[in-house]
Amino acid sequence: MGAFRTKTVEQSIEDTDEPGHQLKKSLGTLQLIVFGVGVVIGTGIFVLTGEAAGVKAGPAIALSFVFAGVGCALAALCYAEFASTVPVAGSAYTFSYASLGELVAWIIGWDLILELALGASTVAVGWSTYFADVLSQAGITLPTSVYGNGHNLVAAVVVLVLTGVLCFGINVSAKVNLVAVIVKVAIVLLVIVAGLFYVKASNYSPFIPPSGSAGASAEPSPPSLLQDLGLGEGSFGIGGIFTGAALVFFAFIGFDIVATAAEETKNPQRDMPRGIFGSLAICTTLYVAVSLVITGMVKYTDISVKAPLAEAFRSVGQPAIATLVSVGALIGLTTVMMVLMLGQSRVFFAMSRDHLLPPVFSAVSERTGAPVRTTLVTGGVVAVISFFVPLSTLAELVNIGTLFAFVVVALGVIVLRRTRPDLERAFRTPLVPFVPIVSVLVSVYLMLNLPAATWLRFALWMLVGFVVYASYGYRRSKMRTGATTPG
Ligand code: ALA
Repeated sequence: MGAFRTKTVEQSIEDTDEPGHQLKKSLGTLQLIVFGVGVVIGTGIFVLTGEAAGVKAGPAIALSFVFAGVGCALAALCYAEFASTVPVAGSAYTFSYASLGELVAWIIGWDLILELALGASTVAVGWSTYFADVLSQAGITLPTSVYGNGHNLVAAVVVLVLTGVLCFGINVSAKVNLVAVIVKVAIVLLVIVAGLFYVKASNYSPFIPPSGSAGASAEPSPPSLLQDLGLGEGSFGIGGIFTGAALVFFAFIGFDIVATAAEETKNPQRDMPRGIFGSLAICTTLYVAVSLVITGMVKYTDISVKAPLAEAFRSVGQPAIATLVSVGALIGLTTVMMVLMLGQSRVFFAMSRDHLLPPVFSAVSERTGAPVRTTLVTGGVVAVISFFVPLSTLAELVNIGTLFAFVVVALGVIVLRRTRPDLERAFRTPLVPFVPIVSVLVSVYLMLNLPAATWLRFALWMLVGFVVYASYGYRRSKMRTGATTPG
């Protein structure tokens, strides 16, 4: 069965040597961590914290971050083994091609579009809201023709500008990224340190608000699939910690993207696991601290669901810090978009090199060493989505897609251990199959805590993917035709 053909690990690595289709090897551990933190800290902590604390978990949102972080750490243990075994571009897509066959690889590649392109669009829309906010603090109001319902020119333009930067190649991008990451981490530390002075113990009571009680917004959050099935509590209570976790999971998205840059890493065997765990550890610590400080500064029922970090400082009479936080968020979200788009173009690149997508997308510019065409296509797709689609439902769709990828990668680790025990693994997931199985269970549990509508959209997206594969990739696949990519 052609759909189950696997690409051997040796073949995957060999493909990276094909002339005219090579990426430059220029990244080390530190760059990978900067890369990781650059994409991870963003809309999740700056925006979604408000909704998660205000209507789902209350001050116990800190526990939601811990749970989501533990889920990600388990997934990271699996990602790291894969990334150090198959050090080529494309992340989970490449990993599954080598272990679970072409069909699963296609499913993952298609699914990653949800995480990366849709994730970038989500963040672009969030960026535009902050942009409008900063402008309004300066007394400027954007006309509704530019920034309104269903037509967000601000988001589309910022995406196109960043696409231009990415076309100059990964080195320039990494430098731009570094400056932005330093600013962003400094702002997050400022929130934690300055906010500590305004924490009131009374705001933590109740720490876990009673199930079904009123929250920060009149709009109750949509029930999770578990609730619809009569198996979950929903907002607040212990159940709220998990529905909160399913939402703030978005804040962790991106650490796995470090693995997409494997082919551009000087020593992937050593640097990959360090890069992945380094960024995850830094971010989890910061998130727990920020969420404790914010829910200590403002009662969860009064928390802002739009700009919770800035509003918290405004509410304690510190408007200057609030403005600083807003500007920092703007810079922070920029790096998130860049790394998400870079990850997406690398996945498109890998899929195109395998001829599951047209090979024209995997041509590399001789001057910059960057896959310019695929970067342009990615930028175009992300810009269009962010122009038309509103933010709220996007984040949950991104989460379900990413969690699904985690499930496949964890299963892939188990399968590859059995089918290719001989392969050298610079990093080995501990306690296989126990850790991958727990990782699958935690990811599935988080998915179940997302609304039924999200599941439906996800199912539709995957269905479209099957049709595309059946009508294009299945027949054109390089594994089937044995063709080499035209240079
Ligand atoms: N984790 C990234 C964010 O929070 C996607 O924006």
